Amino acid sequence: MEKNTTEVTMEKIVSLCKRRGFVFASSEIYGGMAGIYDYGHYGYLFKENIKTAWMNQMLYERDDIVALDSAIFMTPKAWVASGHVGGFNDPMIDCKKCNSRFRADHILEEAGIEADKATIEFINKELQKLKDAKKLVCANCKSVDLSEAKVFSLMVKSNLGSVTDEVTDDNVTYLRPETCGGIYLNYKNTMDSMHMSLPFGIVQIGKAFRNEIAARQFIFRTREFEQMEMQYFHTPGSTLPLYESWKKFRYNWYIEYGIKPESIRWYKHDKLAHYASEAYDIEYNYGSMGGFKEVEGFHTRGDWDLSQHAKYSGQKLEYFDENTKEKYTPHILETSVGLARLFLMFIDSAYTEDKTNPEETRVYLAFHPKLAPVKLAVLPLLKNKEVLTNAAKDLFIRLRKEFHSVEYDESGSIGKRYRKQDEIGTPFCVTVDFESVEGDTAGSYTIRDRDTGEQTRVTEEELVAKLRAALQ
Ligand code: GAP
Repeated sequence: MEKNTTEVTMEKIVSLCKRRGFVFASSEIYGGMAGIYDYGHYGYLFKENIKTAWMNQMLYERDDIVALDSAIFMTPKAWVASGHVGGFNDPMIDCKKCNSRFRADHILEEAGIEADKATIEFINKELQKLKDAKKLVCANCKSVDLSEAKVFSLMVKSNLGSVTDEVTDDNVTYLRPETCGGIYLNYKNTMDSMHMSLPFGIVQIGKAFRNEIAARQFIFRTREFEQMEMQYFHTPGSTLPLYESWKKFRYNWYIEYGIKPESIRWYKHDKLAHYASEAYDIEYNYGSMGGFKEVEGFHTRGDWDLSQHAKYSGQKLEYFDENTKEKYTPHILETSVGLARLFLMFIDSAYTEDKTNPEETRVYLAFHPKLAPVKLAVLPLLKNKEVLTNAAKDLFIRLRKEFHSVEYDESGSIGKRYRKQDEIGTPFCVTVDFESVEGDTAGSYTIRDRDTGEQTRVTEEELVAKLRAALQ
């Protein structure tokens, strides 16, 4: 069945994710929490596979990259130095009637007014003009009683280690809003301990927290999320060719894991941070969100981060170049991607409805086998025939040793078990039937392909070879 005949909607994806144990609303039994999600068994396995695929490309297959796992809490001074305290804000307005909250800059942009980097005074002046023209109403309840715009910090605050319960200016600490902060602070430790010379990179995967006003679109924009970031330290003047090669390198990763070239594109940012010379995003055409949205960001950062941290910490963060005998502050380029955006992208891209049977639409996730949460399901044809269940359990135990994520399932009809494996994206199901245990065919099994539904008879050796080839 051709993938492009399927209409992918967010409703279908959210429903499948809950039904099959990928994603749950956090604190669901209490009514949930906006912008926070929990990952169930298959969601956890799927996330781990995406992380491994990223780490394979970014760390294990390169000689110039090392890893880091830095703490979520960092000194608040670091977030002052980076410009996040005071600068990592969104302007927002409240509806006084229904208490809904909206991004004021988004409202202005929808009205055709450039507001991306506008001051709060400019935003309020323009909002007043819209109010006077009776063009400003609450998108939720249509009330015209809206507050002025206020600056709202995206930083999530804590009073870690404080002797009082309150968060004050003296005791405030922050949950990191991006993982790269820990990389900058450990640049020297990493370089010295790992004997790295320029150019080299540091990768990190970890949680980040942002008090997003408009947390929405399922796991696309959340308040707690995982980032996978790489900071590449290099000689000033060498940025552009390195940047181009990183862009190509990462683009190829998407293609390697089954994303079609027509489903992704580059978006070039015209408005750049003052220290940046280039900024691009990879955007994916999310069927579930009706268009292209940012998945991964590529930024040149110059020497801004290391210079700021050197200034605020009083430490020297320069590099001594053995070749030129010069000292300078390395420049940085970064790639940064949200794990949940990849998670949603891979499900969005893999979601397929096979309508060849007019009686029942078969839904399956056509994941790349390396990303599939379960690689193989071993299914005895009948539950109440010990000769079949024993043979299936033995096969399962043998295969699990090599392929780890293998499932044994004897519950319900064989058709129902296939449907479940299709919906979690298992590339192969193996059925143990009477031919597997009797006569000349003993030791052979039927293997079913997730995407075509075709079944073929194979020996255990052939089955193992097929799995190894798919996972190569
Ligand atoms: N260090 C650079 C940085 O953090 P960013 O554009 O703010 O840049 C990078 O974020 C990536 O992190 C985004 O492209 C997106 O994939 C992910 N991301 C950012 N905010 C997110 C959120 N609230 N929920 C989920 N993912 C998010």
